[in-house]
Amino acid sequence: MKQEIEGLRESFRSDLAKAREERELEATRVKYLGRKGLLTLILKKISDLPLDQKKEIGSLANSLKKEITALLNKKKKDLESLKVSNLQKEAIDITAPGSKFPLGHLHPVTQVFDDIIEIFKRLGFSVAEGPEVESDWYNFQALNFPKDHPARDTQDTLFVSEEIVLRTQTSPVQIRYMEENKPPIRVVAPGRTYRRDSDVTHTPMFHQLEGLAVSTDIRFSDLKGTLEYFVHEFFGSERKLRFRPHFFPFTEPSAEVDISCGICNSKGCRVCKFSGWIEVLGAGMVHPQVLKNGGIDPKVYRGFAFGLGIERLAMLKYNIDDLRLFFENDLRFLKQF
Ligand code: PHE
Repeated sequence: MKQEIEGLRESFRSDLAKAREERELEATRVKYLGRKGLLTLILKKISDLPLDQKKEIGSLANSLKKEITALLNKKKKDLESLKVSNLQKEAIDITAPGSKFPLGHLHPVTQVFDDIIEIFKRLGFSVAEGPEVESDWYNFQALNFPKDHPARDTQDTLFVSEEIVLRTQTSPVQIRYMEENKPPIRVVAPGRTYRRDSDVTHTPMFHQLEGLAVSTDIRFSDLKGTLEYFVHEFFGSERKLRFRPHFFPFTEPSAEVDISCGICNSKGCRVCKFSGWIEVLGAGMVHPQVLKNGGIDPKVYRGFAFGLGIERLAMLKYNIDDLRLFFENDLRFLKQF
């Protein structure tokens, strides 16, 4: 019996060491001290022992019981305080200031597009789009650039194949829109355009916004009024406009439009090349042949068209001197908008 008691001590110690939770600790207590516990059974047997053994075994068993009880109590306290400290570690301090999520925003090119479209919407223009991979017909021939016409040289075209190009301008949307819609037409077409060109003021991909109005009584003065309204809304009412005669195959007459330089107040600076004026867009009255190519009778209808470079307008509005910044996606640049 003595040995049995010693064995219990050993096995209790190893059970105790394994107990990691209160539930396991309680199971250990029941195993040794419960009503049918291993030590309880021994204690019950003691009264049947001969007198000489009773004393010795009895005191051994009792001292083991004390030891087990004390160890269980201690371990229980240890587990409780461990639990509290774990809770403290996991606790959420609802009074602590929150951490901010980094918040993105629209790209400056998108913002400028939105601003410009908003202005034209106020004049009753709606929005249309066309494909970026375009046929030679829509990008050139329908716009009065015959094959081998020298004006094609101005476009620095990126060819996909002999007959397919990356559109060099948004003007093909004029034809596509006329094919699908009857006059009166008042539409702007924003989108990406491509040319084989790269320096501080050119990137191979850039954005344009095309404008087209077709009706029975459209005049050049309507074009002037529309563009003046746009420039005053976008840059401010102090800006002056200047129409210079120019050539585009798809408009006649054609003009390039300058605005007075806002950086030097037209006194002359590097940005306006000391002329006081900055070129911002191309425009003109839609060529009769182009109306015809769009399925519209030029004897009944007339129209005006214009095309603006979005990055160029953004650069002028925000005083940016390198076009490539728009596409490098450097957050230090983008975050300023
Ligand atoms: N498509 C011309 C260009 O990219 C701009 C333009 C559009 C000119 C409409 C006149 C009318 O240069």
